[in-house]
Amino acid sequence: MTLVTKIIDTAEEMMDLGGKIARKVVPPFCIHLTGQIGAGKTTFARGFLKAIGINGPVKSPTFTLVETYSRGGIKVNHLDLFRIDSSRELEFIGFDDYLDSKSILLIEWPESVSEGLPEPDLTIKIEVEEFSRRIQIDKNVVE
Ligand SMILES: Nc1ncnc2c1ncn2[C@@H]1O[C@H](COP(=O)(O)OP(=O)(O)OP(=O)(O)O)[C@@H](O)[C@H]1O
Ligand SMILES: [Mg+2]
Repeated sequence: MTLVTKIIDTAEEMMDLGGKIARKVVPPFCIHLTGQIGAGKTTFARGFLKAIGINGPVKSPTFTLVETYSRGGIKVNHLDLFRIDSSRELEFIGFDDYLDSKSILLIEWPESVSEGLPEPDLTIKIEVEEFSRRIQIDKNVVE
């Protein structure tokens, strides 16, 4: 796999990237989104969901841990594991149903748990720069 770096200047561009990737992937597919608080992980997810036809507001799963969406036979589970401390905790709250599903998984803060998550088919690494975001992503999915 070859990684490419992309500079994303605005939230709109981040949503466009999410949309572009949404149009390329089919379930089951697991995306890990990494980057500090406010990096743009949820913004990416909003663009992704918009592209599959979710037009209403997309709420950050910060407190609910998971938000599930369904459109045209495609199910997307959007997770935020920031508040999860271990794989045991993940098991305890019954996440198997979400993780084993044939859906598309968008996982924020996958690094919160060291094991128990599906291997990512794609990882989007976001670094915050002074006026933009620097993304590292598999070349094949953006070209
Ligand atoms: N280039 C950019 N890409 C993405 N978001 C940007 C950019 N520039 C500014 N923003 C703003 O930064 C914020 C990113 O917030 P977002 O909720 O997407 O972050 P997050 O990575 O999901 O954070 P958290 O870890 O708290 O869930 C939004 O308010 C967005 O409008
Ligand atoms: Mg978020």
